[in-house]
Amino acid sequence: MASSMHCKSIIGRCTVGLRRVNDLKVAACTSWMQHRPLSTKFPEFQNNPQLQSHDQIYQFSLENPDQFWSTLARSRLQWSKDFDTVKDCDIIKGHIKWFLGGQLNASVNCVDRHLDTLGDSTALIWEKDEPGTEEHVSYRQLSQMVNRISNMLKKHGVKKGDRVAIYLPTSPVAIASMLACARIGAVHSVVFAGFSAEALAGRIEDAKAETVITADEGVRGGRKIPLKKVVDESVSKCPSVKRVFVYRRTGMGTLGKNDFSLDDEMAKESDVCDPELMESEDFLFMLYTSGSTGKPKGIAHSTAGYLLYAMMTQKHVFDYKVGERFGCVADIGWITGHSYVVYGPLLNGATTVLFESNPIYPDAGKYWEMTERLKLEHMYLSPTALRMLLKEGDNFVTKYDRSSLRKLGCVGEPLNREAFEWYRDVVGGGRCDVIDTWWQTETGGICITPRPSEEGAPILPGMPMRPFYGIAPALVDQKGEEVTGNDVKGALCIKSVWPGMARTIYGDHQRFLNTYYTPYPGYYFSGDGARRTKSGYYQITGRMDDVLNVSGHRLGTAEIEDVLDDQEEVAESAVVGYPHDIKGEGIYAFVVLKGEHDMPLDKLANELRGMVKTRISSFAQPDMILFAPGLPKTRSGKIMRRILRKVAANKPDELGDTSTLFDPSVVDAIVEKHEEVY
Ligand code: WTA
Repeated sequence: MASSMHCKSIIGRCTVGLRRVNDLKVAACTSWMQHRPLSTKFPEFQNNPQLQSHDQIYQFSLENPDQFWSTLARSRLQWSKDFDTVKDCDIIKGHIKWFLGGQLNASVNCVDRHLDTLGDSTALIWEKDEPGTEEHVSYRQLSQMVNRISNMLKKHGVKKGDRVAIYLPTSPVAIASMLACARIGAVHSVVFAGFSAEALAGRIEDAKAETVITADEGVRGGRKIPLKKVVDESVSKCPSVKRVFVYRRTGMGTLGKNDFSLDDEMAKESDVCDPELMESEDFLFMLYTSGSTGKPKGIAHSTAGYLLYAMMTQKHVFDYKVGERFGCVADIGWITGHSYVVYGPLLNGATTVLFESNPIYPDAGKYWEMTERLKLEHMYLSPTALRMLLKEGDNFVTKYDRSSLRKLGCVGEPLNREAFEWYRDVVGGGRCDVIDTWWQTETGGICITPRPSEEGAPILPGMPMRPFYGIAPALVDQKGEEVTGNDVKGALCIKSVWPGMARTIYGDHQRFLNTYYTPYPGYYFSGDGARRTKSGYYQITGRMDDVLNVSGHRLGTAEIEDVLDDQEEVAESAVVGYPHDIKGEGIYAFVVLKGEHDMPLDKLANELRGMVKTRISSFAQPDMILFAPGLPKTRSGKIMRRILRKVAANKPDELGDTSTLFDPSVVDAIVEKHEEVY
């Protein structure tokens, strides 16, 4: 009786989520009796009879965002000074501010406040590249590292508001460096330690960073990566850099005039450093990501709002409980590493895994051997890795004990049905939820995800399904009108504001507004397209702009074209994505050469790939290069990428209308050549 009344009230109460709630009503009703009381997950609402189910709380988060987020901010974060204004947001103007008047420090929240209860518990498990090795770092040890690095940075003149570039492999010292920046109020800018010297220099320069923290070498898949050498090359182009701290990972290399040994400098410092009091809206970090045009943009996140959102999503999406081991295998150079290796888990007092290696070293059993050895309850990885591993056969998985696993997460690109089923049935033995999470560098944390939801609610393959608390997705058509109803498609926007959303592009607020807020006034525009299924679930259809998603790495086509165009034989180029079995999307470059040239085409293709590797990174190198006689352009000179995408996808029969092209014969010539790729 109680259960059916409860269900009725859920359905009666919901307005925005009605479709979805109706879909779920059977699952919600039948599972209610076994429901773990929600008060264990939301002690804040345990005395409120109106807020006892997931759907009630979701609804509340949309209808009363101030009350929802302020309650959680006060109970879950530690403040030095309470905030007086919950939010000051105007989505039309892209003006986003949360928890004004409040003061706090991120490193205190991630580390200090756990010391009494969890001081000797493991904060970090460093899963080093060397097979079967790991190092455990307790919260107390992490605190000592953070404080020493904080004192070291201060002694060398780093001040509140300064930007610090971190070019380090995923390792305890990298996490301690990020938190040390936070402790003294410096803004960290972690650059993936696989980016080239030129890419690193661009990011250092844009951020006007005076300080770089790096390592002598990185180690990945048994290979050494000369990080310090890359930094030296970058720094020679960046006059802003005054000091470089070098962590000894392998013990190689010598130090130059402005270089300091991180290990030696830390050893000189005390492990007590008073934290800087930061305003809620002070920047915590910036992280560069690719856009459809121009150079990568430094997405800037605030302190309080970001922390709260990372913390809430890590806890509720994965149903994380203290004592569990959380295995997010992302690199700290990406947002997934920031939110789900570092900030989310540490804020929740978790034991978080730092994965330095790659999924196939020494063999394709790496993740599952690690799962058995470390007894991981949670895995969070990329669809590309799953697709790669499933091809290697089940034996690499089944020979290890995976019974500790509870939740299997995925992020970065669409999780196709085959990979979803393999993850669920082979890796999880059919016992664990598979959680496809959609979000972006800009959103700070997970926005669309099947969990949390009513206990037992279905999880379908191929889509992230449901919005997280506080997130109101909207599909918008080309005229900027919201598309209502189900079984519809549109530009994926979010019409609510939430604490974790990015605040600006560092140094270019106008670009921030143009990219996210001007396209559809009144909405945050993600750049992705999506479908709302007949049942009201969200499925991502892919980017709507010229951004590629290669193995979950975001790349602007323009960034790659800029490099190709610089080769002296090249007149112009166009880069598009095409479906790739493993990487999700591959890179296809159409290159038009200037009149006369002597170089053999295979040599030229190699040179072009080499240039991309040097100027961006190896993951940006084109898989296919076609030397085209020209590019299909409209009369106004715009490249018709739609046509190039069809050629790249090997669908020359589906080119559609080419009559609006300036010279339609170019298309025939390209199609003729489409098997001659390098
Ligand atoms: C894509 C990564 C489909 C999407 C956290 C988005 C996804 C971009 C998914 C952001 C998913 C991320 N299904 N596509 N579950 N998750 N994407 O900034 O195109 O590196 O806009 O953040 O990845 O990539 P970013």
